[in-house]
Amino acid sequence: MRLFAFIGFLAVILGIAAAGYFFGGFYSISAVNADPAPVAWALTQVRNASIGRHATDIAPPEFTDPATVRAGAKAFAQRGCVSCHGGPGADWAKFSEGLRPDPPDLKDLADALAPREIFWVVKNGINMTGMPSFARVGVDDKEIWAITAFVKQLPKVSDEDFKAWSTAP
Ligand code: HEC
Repeated sequence: MRLFAFIGFLAVILGIAAAGYFFGGFYSISAVNADPAPVAWALTQVRNASIGRHATDIAPPEFTDPATVRAGAKAFAQRGCVSCHGGPGADWAKFSEGLRPDPPDLKDLADALAPREIFWVVKNGINMTGMPSFARVGVDDKEIWAITAFVKQLPKVSDEDFKAWSTAP
């Protein structure tokens, strides 16, 4: 019994110390230093598990049409994805290097991510990172599927094609 009382006492002390640390302003929210490795690992696991469970929408039939991919390229350029993620032959904005977590180069992820996952992330964003929710700013599902179709093709899109598609009238 004594042991349990002692463990309970320790838990209360720890709780008070943690509250003092975080609410007292001792924890630094600066984006200059990376999260400690175990924190970064845990956040990545939580993100991937969350996306995996929530992303259930099925791509529309026109998803693989070349016209959809081209429309997606244009939306990708116009909606500002390039500033943070770059694009074929297009540099990301300098400020994106100051974001933590880093916006990934999407052509490296395109094969590993399922269309439903890309769609969900673009639609909903990722809370507490720089990744915005595009549904919140009025981008409809059709356009988000087009962007998704383009992101899936990213590893194969040449600089010239991206330029032509993103500047098409
Ligand atoms: C202001 C910067 C910013 C903009 C603009 C932005 N993103 Fe992101 N995006 C991020 C960051 C930061 C992450 C990484 C989040 C993380 O590591 O959890 C990310 C992650 C992603 C991911 C990967 C999710 C995963 O599972 O690893 C995809 C896909 C993505 N963004 C697509 C897009 C598309 C498409 C657009 C444009 C419609 C866009 N992003 C616009 C910052 C941005």
